[in-house]
Amino acid sequence: MVFHQIIVRFVFSTLLVWSSSSVRATNSTQCDQHCGAGSIGPHVPYPFGFSEGCGIRLNCTEITGDIRIGEYLIQNVTSDTLMVNFPVNCSRLIEDLQQLDGSNYGVTWRNGLLLQNCKVPRSECPLPSELLSARLNIQSCDSKKESISCYSEAGGDYLDYRNIGCGIVTSSFLIDMKNSSPMLLEFQTIELAWGLEGDCACHEDANCTNIFLPGNRNGFRCLCKHGFIGDGFRDGDRCRKEHSKAKHFHPRVWIAVIVPVAITVLVLCSCGAYYRLRNSRKAHPWIDGQLEQIPRITY
Ligand SMILES: *[C@@H]1O[C@H](CO)[C@@H](O)[C@H](O)[C@H]1NC(C)=O
Ligand SMILES: *[C@@H]1O[C@H](CO)[C@@H](O)[C@H](O)[C@H]1NC(C)=O
Ligand SMILES: *[C@@H]1O[C@H](CO)[C@@H](O)[C@H](O)[C@H]1NC(C)=O
Ligand SMILES: *[C@@H]1O[C@H](CO)[C@@H](O)[C@H](O)[C@H]1NC(C)=O
Ligand SMILES: *[C@@H]1O[C@H](CO)[C@@H](O)[C@H](O)[C@H]1NC(C)=O
Repeated sequence: MVFHQIIVRFVFSTLLVWSSSSVRATNSTQCDQHCGAGSIGPHVPYPFGFSEGCGIRLNCTEITGDIRIGEYLIQNVTSDTLMVNFPVNCSRLIEDLQQLDGSNYGVTWRNGLLLQNCKVPRSECPLPSELLSARLNIQSCDSKKESISCYSEAGGDYLDYRNIGCGIVTSSFLIDMKNSSPMLLEFQTIELAWGLEGDCACHEDANCTNIFLPGNRNGFRCLCKHGFIGDGFRDGDRCRKEHSKAKHFHPRVWIAVIVPVAITVLVLCSCGAYYRLRNSRKAHPWIDGQLEQIPRITY
């Protein structure tokens, strides 16, 4: 094999190994985080996404850009919660809530539920249920004039709604119990907590929070330290300096742009080298193979 062929083969194989290893290095390259054709439409941070390879899979309606869990529309994704739209519905069965309990997310204890069809009326909420139902204007549901029940918990991780003995959940609200007096934050919204299973797999510039996932399983979430941006996950986009001038390229961009450019440059170079070699062979025919025939001097 001629020397320049060896060089070209070596560079090509290095390039191949390098490009495939940079694909393998992070799962976010295999996780489609855009809801919509191409890269338009809303974008969710890793580990969320719409394909296999995502840590937490959500559903996307491409035409409208709607992102859903089950039938429920997601309003917002934050570093520790998912906010889900939960409109008033007078015939929603309590089992419907199970759509919001996955292996990587669940309904937090900060949610209060307005209920009907209860065996025994419930009134655990820190605010009178009359006030809440008036605010939500849900007396209209109540054809039998059954009083509206309200259920909430004082702490914990996830809301345990399975055994409260009510058939219908009309709506929900979010309470903040941090201060001594409870504060209503949001109506017709359900807050979910999320995380990935296992031990911290965060980037070195991220803080890791250990959490419990539904079913008391160990989980974690990552958050980039101050001065850094990114999702913080080692399998995601990790963290990078907030003010760094260098543009951050997604690995897919590297592969889509840099690799073809590198290959083109290589092909041009090796063609140039080939023609130079061919011309020099014409000028000096002894280069062509005759070098090997020069007898070796042995001692
Ligand atoms: C990331 O990929 C590795 C192997 O490629 C896999 O073991 C791991 O479960 C993936 N993580 C997620 C969150 O999908
Ligand atoms: C997404 O939709 C599919 C099919 O309708 C369903 O089986 C799946 O549970 C949904 N996933 C989520 C996270 O809502
Ligand atoms: C989503 O949450 C972030 C962080 O809490 C907040 O700044 C943003 O305004 C929210 N967006 C919507 C549409 O609610
Ligand atoms: C209310 O809930 C029921 C039962 O889950 C569902 O079939 C229906 O579509 C919901 N109505 C609205 C207006 O969302
Ligand atoms: C990360 O952890 C350090 C040390 O515990 C803390 O000082 C810092 O505020 C945390 N940063 C974020 C963004 O949570």
